[in-house]
Amino acid sequence: MKTLILTLLSLYELQLCCGAYNQNIRSQRKFEMIKTEISSYKDVAKSIIDLAVHGKAQNRSYERLALFVDTVGNRMSGSENLKTAIAYMYKSLQEDDLDRVYLEPVKVPHWERGEESAMLLEPRKKSLAILGLGGSIGTPVEGISAEVIVVSSFAELHNRSKEAKGKIVVYNEPFVNYGETVRYRGSGAVEAAKVGAVASLIRSVTPLSVYSPHTGWQWYENDVPKIPTASITVEDAEMLSRMASRGLKIVIQLKMGAVNHPDADSYNTVAEIVGSKYPEQVVIVSGHLDSWDVGQGAMDDGGGAFISWEALSLIKDLGLRPKRTLRLVLWTGEEQGGVGASQYYELHKKNISNIDLVMESDIGTFMPLGMQFTGKPEARAIMTEVMQLLQPINITSLYDYAEGTDINSWMQAGVPGASLFDDISKYFWFHHSQGDTMTVQDPVWMNLCAAVWTVVSYVVADMEEMLPR
Ligand SMILES: *[C@@H]1O[C@H](CO)[C@@H](O)[C@H](O)[C@H]1NC(C)=O
Ligand SMILES: *[C@@H]1O[C@H](CO)[C@@H](O)[C@H](O)[C@H]1NC(C)=O
Ligand SMILES: *[C@@H]1O[C@H](CO)[C@@H](O)[C@H](O)[C@H]1NC(C)=O
Ligand SMILES: *[C@@H]1O[C@H](CO)[C@@H](O)[C@H](O)[C@H]1NC(C)=O
Ligand SMILES: [Zn+2]
Repeated sequence: MKTLILTLLSLYELQLCCGAYNQNIRSQRKFEMIKTEISSYKDVAKSIIDLAVHGKAQNRSYERLALFVDTVGNRMSGSENLKTAIAYMYKSLQEDDLDRVYLEPVKVPHWERGEESAMLLEPRKKSLAILGLGGSIGTPVEGISAEVIVVSSFAELHNRSKEAKGKIVVYNEPFVNYGETVRYRGSGAVEAAKVGAVASLIRSVTPLSVYSPHTGWQWYENDVPKIPTASITVEDAEMLSRMASRGLKIVIQLKMGAVNHPDADSYNTVAEIVGSKYPEQVVIVSGHLDSWDVGQGAMDDGGGAFISWEALSLIKDLGLRPKRTLRLVLWTGEEQGGVGASQYYELHKKNISNIDLVMESDIGTFMPLGMQFTGKPEARAIMTEVMQLLQPINITSLYDYAEGTDINSWMQAGVPGASLFDDISKYFWFHHSQGDTMTVQDPVWMNLCAAVWTVVSYVVADMEEMLPR
């Protein structure tokens, strides 16, 4: 009996082992087949690269962007300019002869900064450059004049909370990196209001300043009084901090005409190349069309939006049609926290099983270094092979963690996501400031970005199977 049980047990074990073994062999064989399939795209990838980088389409995404930015200017959520921009893109995409061009209505925040100024009254008179933060309330017309407390962190503010009542809190937080430091923009006003401050000013979130304030959205909380809030320059934040450390009394007068209007009508702008074999399955390439109301939104996110358009144009020019639908989405209301994209997700999530890959380019179109990817190891192995097709321009790296406010919901729900990764060393110098202009963009870099973006989106849309998830 005992021997029988032992024999049965080992038979069982043998099967377990060989089952796993066979499965392993099967998945290895399958991966070899996928690798072969991907390498069959070498010539197509080469022709995309040639057209974008050396051929007739050279500099096209840059030139289209320059014309757009010079004609329309910046595109703040809720503004007339954004409406003009959406109409401009709708017409341009139709003229580009793409298969389907349509607008999907969404509601977006409508905040206007109005007139704004800040004056240092004590210890000496000096005007301070400011940019109100998005969503901020205004001040009374006569402004708010109050003594200043300068802190370098939330921890210091909490330590000195008794001193903050009735004052203007100035945050002189050091720039660590964007993700870390942007907390002071997002919740600086709320934290200051919790300890009784009447307004807050943050040091602009940038590693480099040529006396440039940088704006961005900020969030109030229910149950916390709303106080006006703005960004100041690194230079002024450091000066105020030095004055405070000398024990000087600092007084600032802040005037902000900011107004929050009711939500406005807007649209996500969509264009497609309809798939030849699995038209209901979709690869999304995207960037956001809205921008801040300062600068021109050429970098954030004109570049990302226009290389995404370029991907569809290049594929069409080459007479290609992927098996799956390639869908360009130009998001609206991104700067207010991905407002257009979250309404898009709610509307389309019932088709989530047909969304193969979501791609967004929203951290610049400087010299491209590769792609960032979020997905299962099996999908990553496939994407690593796809990147090898970019060997002719030597941009083959696949990094961890795709980023993009507008594609996050999909990725959190398990859809593979990819974002363009480029040399961001100068990105935050210009971000959300008057410095975000066409002068920051480079046609040669945009050509390379478009090539990377197009090869990856085309090949994934055309492969026989969707990416594993
Ligand atoms: C594209 O732009 C680069 C950089 O400005 C320039 O050298 C090149 O001549 C341009 N190519 C075309 C076809 O205009
Ligand atoms: C908070 O106060 C304590 C006691 O005065 C001090 O030791 C600590 O360094 C302070 N922390 C910050 C972040 O200012
Ligand atoms: C879902 O996909 C089907 C098939 O492509 C399409 O007809 C339908 O409009 C889609 N619905 C949404 C809400 O995306
Ligand atoms: C290719 O790019 C890598 C960095 O990703 C670099 O180290 C290498 O020198 C480049 N090779 C050529 C031939 O340019
Ligand atoms: Zn952006």
